[in-house]
Amino acid sequence: MCQNRGVAYIEPGVVEVQSIEYPKLALGDRKCHHGVILQIVSTNICGSDQHMVRGRTTAPAGLVLGHEITGLVIEAGRDVEFIKEGDLVSVPFNIACGRCRNCKAGQTGICLNVNPGRAGAAYGYVDMGGWVGGQAEYVMVPYADFNLLKFPDKDQAMAKIRDLTLLSDIFPTGYHGAVTAGVGPGSIVYVAGAGPVGLACAVSCHLLGAAVVIVGDMIPERLEQAKSFGCEVIDLRKDVSLADQIAEIIGVPEVDSAVDCVGFEAHGHGSESGTEQPATVLNAAMTITRAGGAIGIPGLYVTGDPGASTEAAKQGNLNIRIGLGWAKSHSFYTGQCPVMKYHRQLMNAILYDKVQIAKAVNVEVISLDKAPKGYQDFDKGAAKKFVIDPHGLIPN
Ligand SMILES: NC(=O)c1ccc[n+]([C@@H]2O[C@H](COP(=O)([O-])OP(=O)(O)OC[C@H]3O[C@@H](n4cnc5c(N)ncnc54)[C@H](O)[C@@H]3O)[C@@H](O)[C@H]2O)c1
Ligand SMILES: [Zn+2]
Ligand SMILES: [Zn+2]
Repeated sequence: MCQNRGVAYIEPGVVEVQSIEYPKLALGDRKCHHGVILQIVSTNICGSDQHMVRGRTTAPAGLVLGHEITGLVIEAGRDVEFIKEGDLVSVPFNIACGRCRNCKAGQTGICLNVNPGRAGAAYGYVDMGGWVGGQAEYVMVPYADFNLLKFPDKDQAMAKIRDLTLLSDIFPTGYHGAVTAGVGPGSIVYVAGAGPVGLACAVSCHLLGAAVVIVGDMIPERLEQAKSFGCEVIDLRKDVSLADQIAEIIGVPEVDSAVDCVGFEAHGHGSESGTEQPATVLNAAMTITRAGGAIGIPGLYVTGDPGASTEAAKQGNLNIRIGLGWAKSHSFYTGQCPVMKYHRQLMNAILYDKVQIAKAVNVEVISLDKAPKGYQDFDKGAAKKFVIDPHGLIPN
């Protein structure tokens, strides 16, 4: 019997590396002929995992975490036609059937057939269909032909694995945030949040031709990271309004596009930056985006937050000044990123050296046993993206 180990959520603030079941090509009692088993080459810790580990969701104890997976196919089901054993593949964090109306329309983040509770599924995530996560040594991926992106050359891919590992989530997610905020050549953009998603979004804005990318956060090391690749930065701890700080940089208090890369655990601005104010980023985005502009919202908002400070917020009801956005004819774009829409193009941007995404988000590779420490450091605001290397396969 093959062994497997994975990172399990135990209780708020605690994750543990445990022995877990070796994956089977099965969906309940049924054989999963369209699935593959992967030996995981790299699997990243995400800000989305932190929402669960901080106790801000209804994630059950024992949930095996991990939705950012890159791996080697070691077993393929009978009906997998085009992916082969030995292929090195990137796994979009969205699990998608490829057969429902949303998948057919490219909306793989809201597949209708992979989660009995709601549209959309992911590996190792609360409310996302109960799929086993991939911060582990091995994992099962269903609908493999549809979901997986095969890297064209294994040696070339392993040499760039620190970059390519980001294709399973944060690079496409940041890019999607920029695209849905209408970023293009010459755009002036405000990106809220300098965590890995915010930094990936800022890189994407540059890739899309933005003229000025302004990144706001309250963690100085993360802002330094944004500066390192040419962003303007705003320290939101300062008691100067965001609009005034933007005007100091570009001469006017308005941008063309804004991207929320923070989500519901947002902090307030200025003297309130030490306290949580879940609607701050959305309200700020409406304040500083020009009339007619668009706001991309990859930052996560939830339908239930047991750790919220008000009864309304516990149900996901936030104090959003929607009238302001309405008056300015803003467009809003929410939801999980449909990774598959972007991952092939972004892979090529990496392989042909058009983008240095691992450097921008400051990837640090750690062993599976170091995952709990990675969670702690990330929670403290480390300016890093932790990538777990469960089999020691990633070259130095
Ligand atoms: N839509 C998707 O498909 C998708 C995919 C991945 C991640 N996400 C979500 O994106 C968000 C960011 O992910 P991450 O990994 O970068 O997380 P993170 O927690 O590392 O980063 C969030 C950053 O926001 C900063 N912040 C807090 N309040 C702020 C404010 N008012 N203004 C500006 N910055 C503020 C924090 O200091 C932190 O640096 C999370 O909510 C995550 O769940 C969504
Ligand atoms: Zn993620
Ligand atoms: Zn589907």
